[in-house]
Amino acid sequence: MTTRDPTDIFSEWALRNRDEGMENGHANSVDEMLNIVLPMLSTPFSAIDVGCGNGWVCRKLQSYDNCSKVVGIDGSIEMIVKAKDKGRGEFHLAKLPGWAPSQKFDLIHSMEFLYYLTNPLEMLQEFFNEWLNNKGILIAGVDHYLENTASHDWPESLNVNMTMLSEEQWKKGMIDAGFTDVETQRVGVRPGFVGTLAIFGRKP
Ligand SMILES: C[S@@+](CC[C@H](N)C(=O)[O-])C[C@H]1O[C@@H](n2cnc3c(N)ncnc32)[C@H](O)[C@@H]1O
Repeated sequence: MTTRDPTDIFSEWALRNRDEGMENGHANSVDEMLNIVLPMLSTPFSAIDVGCGNGWVCRKLQSYDNCSKVVGIDGSIEMIVKAKDKGRGEFHLAKLPGWAPSQKFDLIHSMEFLYYLTNPLEMLQEFFNEWLNNKGILIAGVDHYLENTASHDWPESLNVNMTMLSEEQWKKGMIDAGFTDVETQRVGVRPGFVGTLAIFGRKP
């Protein structure tokens, strides 16, 4: 059976308001991720949320006084329609890889997006080369990773291709892409959930 395009699935989720459950489910991990990076950013800072879904992280970032610009990008048309409906802000409908922003950013944030790509490590390289300002920071959260055994059956249950990497493979991919100060950390840990793997790095 051929696998489905994740952006089609997430459009269906948006039409059934399942984006709201996802927002709630990801909120603790994202809060922890933002708490890690926000004190490190120069002010004012610009940010892009990759795989932004209904745009909730963009709206959160917009609420910070020192955030000068936020852009969201997602490949699901219904998610982008929702993101535009829910507030002001710049949102792009685009499937990755194959699109790059017209400016570079101080912060790249991404939650539960990267493993939908066939080659997420190549995307990290593109982020480093084309999306991030010097001294800029990338933080990305993934829940589907080798050490989270509870996530191993997700590709089958959703009928979607996912690329499962280990914590070490993510770290090495970041270092190979050129990032410095590379760290990984579990965030959003709760009973029954080993946590989101938060992947951090800086462009020198
Ligand atoms: C699990 S959802 C997470 C959404 C949002 N970050 C959140 O935390 O609520 C993954 C998102 O990535 C988007 N996505 C998946 N593959 C994509 C691709 N190749 N290009 C662009 N967006 C993609 C989906 O449309 C979906 O909105």
